[in-house]
Amino acid sequence: MLDKNSRKIDYLRISVTDLCNLRCIYCRPEQGLDLFKRSEILDFEEICVVAQHGVKLGINKFRLTGGEPLARKGIESLVEQLADIEGVDEVAMTTNGILLKDFAQILKKAGLARINISLDTMRPDKFAEITRGGNLRDVFLGIEQAEKSGFTNLKLNVVTMAGVNDDEIEDFARLTLEKEIEVRFIELMATRNRKKLDHAGFLSTEDAIRKIKKIGNLVPAFAKKGNGPAKRFQLEGAKGTLGFINAVTNPFCGTCNRLRLTSDGKLRSCLLKGGEVDVKSIIRADYNDAQNNGPTMRRDKLLTDAFYKAANMKPSYHEGSDKVIMYQVGG
Ligand code: GTP
Ligand code: 5AD
Ligand code: SF4
Repeated sequence: MLDKNSRKIDYLRISVTDLCNLRCIYCRPEQGLDLFKRSEILDFEEICVVAQHGVKLGINKFRLTGGEPLARKGIESLVEQLADIEGVDEVAMTTNGILLKDFAQILKKAGLARINISLDTMRPDKFAEITRGGNLRDVFLGIEQAEKSGFTNLKLNVVTMAGVNDDEIEDFARLTLEKEIEVRFIELMATRNRKKLDHAGFLSTEDAIRKIKKIGNLVPAFAKKGNGPAKRFQLEGAKGTLGFINAVTNPFCGTCNRLRLTSDGKLRSCLLKGGEVDVKSIIRADYNDAQNNGPTMRRDKLLTDAFYKAANMKPSYHEGSDKVIMYQVGG
């Protein structure tokens, strides 16, 4: 489907839960959280109704996000159901990796195509600080298990923060010399909880590139898999690639190809700005009194309208938002 700015929308990011086993400093507050009630969250069948409808309208890629998608019980069954929808090219996942060591093989079997893992530091004490208590070893074991289970094109998401991990940019880049992975440097966005950060400063893509150029020549690289917003390069001679997501210094709204489904059943037009359309009420409505078209046709028509409405709410350009709650929208 095309939105009113002729952007092709073919990618749906599905946030399956707002729960998470970490509390990253830029994502969640230190204490207290306003979480959705169980009854507010879409069940797998409901997610699949929306997803299936999206496919009819031209969606061909799903990415499961959270919170932490592996914190949702039975997630492999959702992967399997989504991967089985005819017309779907890939079902991918973005995870913090903590539970991956136990899930990698199960997810592979369920038909998950790709995994992106969030990892902002390779130092255990700093990891515990950024995630407020996480164990870095779990993530390393998760990556290892993902590789062993046959996942290729692994991507590591590094949110760059001055004064926090700016001394590790070169180390992250060096990882790609021997490993066939993509390391992506993501500019820290001003989301609701990040506003309260006082010790993590902004580090632009340009600054990160400047640091990396000190350890080698950067040459353009092409995406093997994925159609996200990263600009790709490679250290000359490296096996892996480097991606740069400069959502802050160079918003990529003009080429944005995605919609989002939140875990409480809203089709959201944009990560940071723009509106939402409630699809949960469409799915949960009782259509028994629909006389002319029958219940399924009535629901289908409402869902189609909802997808177009959400797509047309996508802003043509924006400069970010400090209101968005990342663990509800899914990064
Ligand atoms: P690939 O399919 O591998 O290309 O994945 P992706 O880059 O689409 O997904 P991932 O979840 O790994 O996203 C990486 C980061 O890009 C996220 O953490 C966000 O910070 C950022 N991002 C993703 N989508 C959007 C978006 O629509 N707008 C903005 N501003 N940033 C986004
Ligand atoms: N700015 C940039 N990226 C963020 N993420 C979460 N919060 C922010 C933020 N404020 C990233 C995570 C993860 C992805 C889903 O979202 O690091 O890789
Ligand atoms: Fe959890 Fe991801 Fe938020 Fe960290 S950024 S607290 S891993 S949802």
